[in-house]
Amino acid sequence: MGKFDLDQVICRENTCSVKNDYRNCEDMICMWVADMDFAVAPPIVEAIKKRADHPIFGYSYIPDRLFNAVSNWYEKRQGVHYNPKRMLTYYSVVSAISLVLLSLTEEGDTVTMMAPTYMNFPPAVNGVKRNIIYNNLIDINQHFEIDYDDLDRCLSKSKVFLHCSPHNPTGRVWTLDEQRKIAELCEKHHVLVISDEIHSDLIMPGFKHIPFFQVSPKTKDYTVTMISATKTFNLANNGVAFIIPGNEKMYESIKKHMECLHLGSMNIFATTAVLAAYESGEEWLEEVIPYVEDNYLMIKKFIDEKIPKIKVTTMEGTYLMWLDCRNLGIPVVNFFETTAKVLGEDGILFGPAGQNYYRLNLASSRLVIEKVLMRLEKAYHQLF
Ligand SMILES: Cc1ncc(COP(=O)(O)O)c(C=O)c1O
Repeated sequence: MGKFDLDQVICRENTCSVKNDYRNCEDMICMWVADMDFAVAPPIVEAIKKRADHPIFGYSYIPDRLFNAVSNWYEKRQGVHYNPKRMLTYYSVVSAISLVLLSLTEEGDTVTMMAPTYMNFPPAVNGVKRNIIYNNLIDINQHFEIDYDDLDRCLSKSKVFLHCSPHNPTGRVWTLDEQRKIAELCEKHHVLVISDEIHSDLIMPGFKHIPFFQVSPKTKDYTVTMISATKTFNLANNGVAFIIPGNEKMYESIKKHMECLHLGSMNIFATTAVLAAYESGEEWLEEVIPYVEDNYLMIKKFIDEKIPKIKVTTMEGTYLMWLDCRNLGIPVVNFFETTAKVLGEDGILFGPAGQNYYRLNLASSRLVIEKVLMRLEKAYHQLF
């Protein structure tokens, strides 16, 4: 065992947890929604407790120390320089996407995104009256690849490319070469890029995340990057999302919109948690990544050997495993939920391109994963 007890099974029931309490999950093992079942890094808990010991929770501002911590983190981990003085803060990445669209585009403009698509992207775009075109990824032997001709066609009609990097739900970590080609097409069609890099700290060994910001000397000038501590440190809904516009004009325009709406100040506990995470959470993250990778390798081996009708997509990043169930011949929900009592996410939630796929969240203790495997095997024997 490492320094942190990731094997511990923590009961999340009756904690208002969306994963465990929101849907009727009786008898189910909950493997849906993207948060982790691991206790957060101890320095985060300590920092929150320490702040709670001071009994006044009035208006607070975000200290420069937090922006510096974020900048230092990305410089060290991803080799990218984000100017701490040119970051904006917001409640969540999804709402920040809507805000950036409101600030930098016009009603009726079109946004291209890859499909299958993280399910909260379409409402974030349609909600502010922008249109969507989908660029379908191609599943080549459990590895999703970009159809550049189609992307070219989509971008020729778009003002924005909403980049999901790494990609949820397919688990792709885009290579430099792939992103250079995306950049070429965005430049050809003068398209703004919103690069959602919320999963960029969760990269499996052997893969490397390249921030779109630094794909080429030019990309920064038309890119707004979104990052957040929420996926990295298991702080969903308790975090602060950072909007990083690549040039001054975009920065000023987004800031003006935020000021109009009196947005930007954050809950003191969120700020405290995120500061502790970026300053003192690295050791914890360094244990979580290989633990999740081992979960993935274990499930992959098991499914390859025992459930041949399901194919496992390579999980290069994120902690979300994307399963190709097209050969099952029955609805995915019947297999996973009704029979196996394992609650992940039906691929159709990620749009038509996700039909007959299923997503499982692997950020759970080994004991839970083992139980899931037993249930899947039993269900498979029952049905086939
Ligand atoms: C690609 C992507 N962006 C954004 C989010 C959600 O971010 P937030 O909770 O900050 O809106 C998720 C959550 O799963 C995600 O996968």
